[in-house]
Amino acid sequence: MASTIHILNGPNLNRLGTRESGIYGTVTLADIEKQARERAGQKGFEVVFRQSNHEGDLVDWLHEATDSAGVVLNAGAYTHSSIALHDAIRAIEAPVIEVHLSNVFAREDFRHHSTLSAVAKGVICGFGAESYLLAIDGLATLAAAPRERT
Ligand code: DQA
Repeated sequence: MASTIHILNGPNLNRLGTRESGIYGTVTLADIEKQARERAGQKGFEVVFRQSNHEGDLVDWLHEATDSAGVVLNAGAYTHSSIALHDAIRAIEAPVIEVHLSNVFAREDFRHHSTLSAVAKGVICGFGAESYLLAIDGLATLAAAPRERT
């Protein structure tokens, strides 16, 4: 539905809170979900929030989101390798915003390349959980004025 935003999370993001807290902080995925639902709700959107450690699940969920207002996608490490996710983004109508908690460009070289950025509507990284909220704001702006911005 056009009033729904899908927030899709890839591998290891279920471990937020304890995983590498020096990089990702102590925020949990449940915290992010709560904040995202609040922000989206304020803007009149429902949220489908999901996490999987399996690439094919993310492909299926992108397909399911085709008629939505958009997708906030943190594909985790698949960001740096997945042609299947690249193709799935190209295969759907909804705009996809690639997000990362960390600033991937300030980290190891292998994180500097994304297979997704070239087909994403936009990319937000480095703001922690706020990256997700900024992406929701961006999708809400796009939904309000789709013809001017696509
Ligand atoms: C991440 C960055 C990726 O490089 C990493 O593999 C992750 C998390 C982030 O949100 O900062 O799993 O997507």
